[in-house]
Amino acid sequence: MNPVYEKLQSCLKSVRAKTDFQPKIALILGSGLGDYADSIEIVDTIDYNEIEGFPISTVSGHKGRFVFGYVKGVPVVIMQGRVHYYEGYPMTDVVLPTRLMGMMGAKVLFLTNASGGLNPNFHAGDFMVMEDQIANFVPSPLIGTNIDELGPRFPDMSEIYNKACREQIFAAADALDIPVQNGVYVQLTGPNYESPSEVKMCRLIGGDAVGMSTACEAIAANHMGMKVCGISCITNMASGISKVPLSHIEVKETADRVAPLFKNLVTESIVRIAAAL
Ligand code: HPA
Repeated sequence: MNPVYEKLQSCLKSVRAKTDFQPKIALILGSGLGDYADSIEIVDTIDYNEIEGFPISTVSGHKGRFVFGYVKGVPVVIMQGRVHYYEGYPMTDVVLPTRLMGMMGAKVLFLTNASGGLNPNFHAGDFMVMEDQIANFVPSPLIGTNIDELGPRFPDMSEIYNKACREQIFAAADALDIPVQNGVYVQLTGPNYESPSEVKMCRLIGGDAVGMSTACEAIAANHMGMKVCGISCITNMASGISKVPLSHIEVKETADRVAPLFKNLVTESIVRIAAAL
């Protein structure tokens, strides 16, 4: 068997030994947004270090566990803390938790992250619905022998972020009167923030926000037929646009400030997306 698939199967076995919870929607919480998981009706949790072979996140501000439970009656699995490529894991490990949530039965992957704004119309604290992405600065998570059990060798990526799900997020934002932006997310490796020239490049190639995660997860989920959608929290304007040096502290402060709105927007979006499934 493909070793990547074999590891996935053994992680799934580990999870299934602890819970038979059947999620409909998988949610990944980004930097500073992890508290959301504590606010849902929790049924079960599994620390990543309880799952043999599981990549463990090392970033401060990221907890490392799966939370199983209900968001207004919708069964969800939440990753409270994700794995980043800059931590040194191979891309197949970075997307292992995403694939695992798909294998647990989740039909939708709802991605969230913190990012730097590239679009001059954006402001720190804005939310951006991800319309598309540029992932060419990181290796594809699909490199290597294809896992035929999950999806095809050459998967289509013409609608990575599912249009119907995006429309549900916009409808949720409208209903809650929360302004949201729309745009293209660029994934770079990090962990350093960008230079002003790199930020100019990201804008020139069509990006609206830049970050260090998410796009690889969206590819892996799309490959295995999950519907993908996501919201990026613009925690700062990107380097060179912002007049002050960037820091993880600023990222966390902005994420904390908008957390209550974020929480409402994610909850309402999940309810609407699940109702339309
Ligand atoms: N660049 C990359 N990643 C980020 C940023 C940024 O400006 N802000 C939050 N995550």
